[in-house]
Amino acid sequence: MTDTAQLHYNGQTIDLPVVVGTQKETAVDISKLRAESGLITLDNGYGNTGSCSSAITFVNGEKGILKYRGYRIEVLATKSTFVETAYLLIFGEMPTSSQYTEFRRQLVQHEFIHEDMRHHLDGFPPNAPPMAILSAMINAVGCFEPVFMQPEDDEHFMKPAARLMSKIRTIAAASYRKSLGKPIVYPRSRLRYVENFLHMMFSSPYEPYEAPEAVVEALDRLLILHADHEQNCSTSTVRMVASSQANLYASVAAGVCALWGPLHGGANVAVIDMLQGLVDSGEKLDRFIARVKNRDAGARLMGFGHRVYKNFDPRATIIKESCHRLLEKIGVDDPLLDLAMKLEEVALKDPYFVERKLYPNVDYYSGIIMRALGIPTDMFTVIFAIGRLPGWIAHWREVHTNTNARIDRPRQIYIGDTVREYVPLEERG
Ligand code: ACO
Repeated sequence: MTDTAQLHYNGQTIDLPVVVGTQKETAVDISKLRAESGLITLDNGYGNTGSCSSAITFVNGEKGILKYRGYRIEVLATKSTFVETAYLLIFGEMPTSSQYTEFRRQLVQHEFIHEDMRHHLDGFPPNAPPMAILSAMINAVGCFEPVFMQPEDDEHFMKPAARLMSKIRTIAAASYRKSLGKPIVYPRSRLRYVENFLHMMFSSPYEPYEAPEAVVEALDRLLILHADHEQNCSTSTVRMVASSQANLYASVAAGVCALWGPLHGGANVAVIDMLQGLVDSGEKLDRFIARVKNRDAGARLMGFGHRVYKNFDPRATIIKESCHRLLEKIGVDDPLLDLAMKLEEVALKDPYFVERKLYPNVDYYSGIIMRALGIPTDMFTVIFAIGRLPGWIAHWREVHTNTNARIDRPRQIYIGDTVREYVPLEERG
């Protein structure tokens, strides 16, 4: 028998079904609440609202658990590759070797962007933010390809999924080259996914860049760690746009915009700006922490805190270790890493952060890895987007294959004026 929760209101008792997920997390299903009572729920920032049921990713914020399709992130980060993890997220199963080969073949097949897309790229000013370019260009891909709307079928869905995953890295690298005023570098089919991206970023026509294995490994792992995170801001955006039955490109382009903000994917840039600001100003860490606690001019410890993780972010633990390993292997000594560790130590001992359960999140150390890879700060959030793309594709597909799906359309409590009289312009003074 299913449990119910009861709500007593206005002399009426309303029974609300309790829904239990496969990991025993529970929710009160309020879908009939308004019809039965006239009430809606109000949940600022959706901290208590389940917007959907999903079989893609599980997060337990109290225990610091993250799983994609039932596989623990620690296992995927050490044993899988980004391409394999992407396949898992999108199709729900680990690929067989022939499926993996086919997926990789399609990634290679779609790595070029249409020549007219290059003219589109030329239209952006040289200092255009790469996230703006990425979003616009992803939406534009939809104008150059037939829009695919039958996501039920694995075999056919592989093509649009591989096409988008392949092109996003070509677009990202091209936007970087353009920002430097350098010629675009064409992809090389024999290279692996991450290697090919690094080649398009850093090779020049006369000097191919060959990425050291430690660099490829570190970036591949970083992408795995970013590949999905259930109903975060950008993924919820993709799902909301998808709920109107918008196509994959339009939905993902919207997700890129949501990711851009400094409270979400843009935090990796904000962390480096914060650390560099501390180096440049010479401000003592205690004083900075005091400013954060006082909220002086909106001061915040960027890369700390998370809506869901209230113990530790498992991705941050892996990234911190990965960061140390990479810097040691490639012989980079970054003063910002030492500073980040000192700042973390000071914050984790401070009651303000302890009481509010604020810990380093995925963005705290990821910027330091990217700096070591030679990736400029304004490309950090673009790398996050490349990593998050398989998750967005998987969620878009889940929305489009849900036969019970409805358009997302939240309600509100109106707090504006009630009725106002229109006064003609000449009488308003
Ligand atoms: N520095 C200082 N104080 C903080 C921080 C922080 N980084 N994060 C939260 N707090 C404080 C809040 O001011 C609040 O204090 P109060 O209860 O006294 O008012 C309390 O901790 C609870 O925080 P909320 O703002 O309610 O947390 P919320 O879940 O809304 O926000 C968020 C989560 C946006 C991640 C927040 O912690 C933050 O701004 N962090 C810094 C930005 C960041 O690193 N974002 C990346 C997140 S991970 C990702 O998107 C991939």
